[in-house]
Amino acid sequence: MIEGTISRITGPVVEAKGMFGSRMYDITKVGDIGLVGEIIKLRKDIAVIQVYEDTSGLKVGESVTSEELSLAVELGPGLLTSIYDGIQRPLPIISEKFGVFIPKGSSVGALDPEREWHFTPTVAVGDKVGPGDIIGTVRESGSIIHKIMVPNDRQGKISGIKAGDYNIDEAVGALSDGLPLFMRQAWPVRKPRPYKRKLDPEIPLVTGQRIFDTLFPIPKGGSAIIPGGFGTGKTVTEQTLAKWADADIIVYVGCGERGNEMTEVLTEFPELVDPKSGAPLMDRTVLIANTSNMPVAAREASVYTGITIAEYYRDMGYDVALMADSTSRWGEALREVSGRLEEMPGEEGYPAYLATRLANFYERAGRVVAVGADDRIGSVTVVGAVSPPGGDFSEPMTQNSLRISGAFWALDTNLAHRRHFPAVNWINSYSLYLDSIQEYYSNNVSGDYGRLRQETMEVLQREAELQEIVQLIGPDALPESERALLETARMLREDFLQQFAFHEVDAFCPLAKQLAMLNVIITFHQSSMEAIRRGVTLSQITELPLKARISRMKEIANDKAVDELKSLAGEITAALVEIEVL
Ligand SMILES: Nc1ncnc2c1ncn2[C@@H]1O[C@H](COP(=O)(O)OP(=O)(O)O)[C@@H](O)[C@H]1O
Ligand SMILES: [Mg+2]
Repeated sequence: MIEGTISRITGPVVEAKGMFGSRMYDITKVGDIGLVGEIIKLRKDIAVIQVYEDTSGLKVGESVTSEELSLAVELGPGLLTSIYDGIQRPLPIISEKFGVFIPKGSSVGALDPEREWHFTPTVAVGDKVGPGDIIGTVRESGSIIHKIMVPNDRQGKISGIKAGDYNIDEAVGALSDGLPLFMRQAWPVRKPRPYKRKLDPEIPLVTGQRIFDTLFPIPKGGSAIIPGGFGTGKTVTEQTLAKWADADIIVYVGCGERGNEMTEVLTEFPELVDPKSGAPLMDRTVLIANTSNMPVAAREASVYTGITIAEYYRDMGYDVALMADSTSRWGEALREVSGRLEEMPGEEGYPAYLATRLANFYERAGRVVAVGADDRIGSVTVVGAVSPPGGDFSEPMTQNSLRISGAFWALDTNLAHRRHFPAVNWINSYSLYLDSIQEYYSNNVSGDYGRLRQETMEVLQREAELQEIVQLIGPDALPESERALLETARMLREDFLQQFAFHEVDAFCPLAKQLAMLNVIITFHQSSMEAIRRGVTLSQITELPLKARISRMKEIANDKAVDELKSLAGEITAALVEIEVL
């Protein structure tokens, strides 16, 4: 153990002298009260420490100790359903023990040491095992089976293993080296967990949200950012995805958002029902909450804690989605700590290493073959909200994040004001995964996908151009065909892109229904263009009673939608052919 004393305190950053032998990112106990901190800079015998708890009241001369260990997360059964702070202290247990405010220096293990789990071995005495191999399973919560894996530094022959009820401190077996095997392991948060191979992310993460799945899709193992000004729908989007995306496990990191907003998450999340199983959503969720009133430096810890837990479930072979709301608060923490360190500031006061830090985080997304004998495939998908001040996307957090993420879902203040939700701007947003996902949709959902999406984007882009002209000279000056296009664009916006997150049916739209809806609108578009070429007028077309059915497509029950929409498309073609030229 290394022991030093505090020589300087500036906000969340503390310097300690007499710390010879310390390593970067070693964990320290700071002050007589033992606040948790992490070494982020070393200078001779001085360790500069970012402290993950409130440093007020600390005094120069108090002790600092280091056990020469890195900040690590505890991994094992009991993670699911948990609500943690940034350094993985279970918030409900802490508040039960100590009240609403977490007392400084309080330590409570991340996993309940008393809870027993029924362990079922999947290997037998004499079996050879190595890193990542599964030795048994535990039903963790709801339908999720927690796979107990050999830690990455262990291998050998199983010398004992037995089914039964165990807590996380009891050995479930042992290896021939005589050392016990537990259901839990630890992992240093800043180090990505290893995998055998990264795979191309080519299987979509279906979200049930039309604008994402159809226009700007992401795959399992991909990453997306949601930049948007205040009130544009970042939090609603993150929560909608947590609820509906076809991931097995959700890790939700609430990072530095206003206190009451996080309280909402903390009280509402446990009440959410998993629409797929009917069980509580928390059964497959780990919640990490670090509100704006909690210490700034712990925001960084919360992001790393979250991604490490996500990788751990990935290694079991699960598809994990990590939501981070908002990564900008982490960026602000980096800026504050860097300022205290008196580092040379980069753009807008952010540290010069901001881009690298963000890249290291987003690169931990991916679809991989996990370490272990049975070639399990798992994925971590990362969706990070970004809160640019004033909604200005040219600022460093947005710019640095978009360079390293594969999809950009730009939320738009104007759309939100007009209550067009999700307020995703279809002109500025993009997905770099389109090609691989197009192939998947074509093979598995509908061969028309590529054509439908392209027509849709063309209509929407053309609308944006025409709107500029309309503003100058009014809509009446446009030729009939272009006014018809504007009508299609309006349908696309209102009847397809708008999707109310809290609607009984429309909250989740299955892929097949999405494409059937799009097919109706594009059929309408092509048939009306055809009719106009024949000499039919736009007002004849807009009078068609069928149009009302288009505007109610969203509400058609999901199981009946595909058939009904198919026949609607047929009726539209027929009706438009039948209109007589006046
Ligand atoms: N998909 C959506 N469907 C319905 N309402 C939405 C949707 N997205 C956002 N909203 C509305 O916008 C409000 C603000 O959204 P919120 O996610 O809190 O914004 P942000 O996190 O970007 O500040 C919500 O309270 C809700 O009324
Ligand atoms: Mg929010």
